[in-house]
Amino acid sequence: MKIAAIVGSNREDSYNKKVATFIQDRYRDSMDIELINIRDFPLYNQDEEEVPPETVQSAVEQIQNSDGLLFVTPEYNHSIPAVLKNAIDWFSRSGRPTAGKPTMIAGASQGALGTVRSQLHLRQILNAPGVSAKVLPQNEIFLGTIQDKFDNNGNLTDRATIDFIDNVVTNFKEWINQVS
Ligand SMILES: Cc1cc2nc3c(=O)[nH]c(=O)nc-3n(C[C@H](O)[C@H](O)[C@H](O)COP(=O)(O)O)c2cc1C
Repeated sequence: MKIAAIVGSNREDSYNKKVATFIQDRYRDSMDIELINIRDFPLYNQDEEEVPPETVQSAVEQIQNSDGLLFVTPEYNHSIPAVLKNAIDWFSRSGRPTAGKPTMIAGASQGALGTVRSQLHLRQILNAPGVSAKVLPQNEIFLGTIQDKFDNNGNLTDRATIDFIDNVVTNFKEWINQVS
């Protein structure tokens, strides 16, 4: 099963990126997760959408060739980061690779709420006609105070967090097989 993963943070030491690579490593026997680079996308400009930049085109192809999508995103000012919205805006005008794609959302924040507000906005955006992703119902991965969930070597070691992720990822895999 091939999954395209999009991280909503463009910072090098991003906790959300670490969560994405944790998921990539932990489930590599059953899912081939490829991280998509959105941080080099230029700002969306409708004047340029007829011929999208190479960075966008290659991400679109990666999504088209996947069985599912995974978003792992922080919350910025109670919504999704601009870098992620920018990528989704490009996708919505460049072949709509997200349309009908089984999608799972996860998010980590340093505060207590674990990206609740950001994920609510993301679900709304993914439901827009130009995006139309098929989002896993009921299951949500909110990871609060994420800075406390790693050991000194940068490994995600918190048992409750790992169990939580295991449960949702298992549900995601079963659901993809049902809806694909
Ligand atoms: C511009 C900005 C806005 C933020 N707004 C929120 C917010 O609304 N809610 C929240 O829980 N954390 C907020 N944070 C803190 C993030 O949870 C924290 O920086 C987190 O580590 C970002 O994810 P990353 O480590 O993957 O980059 C904000 C951080 C930045 C830089």
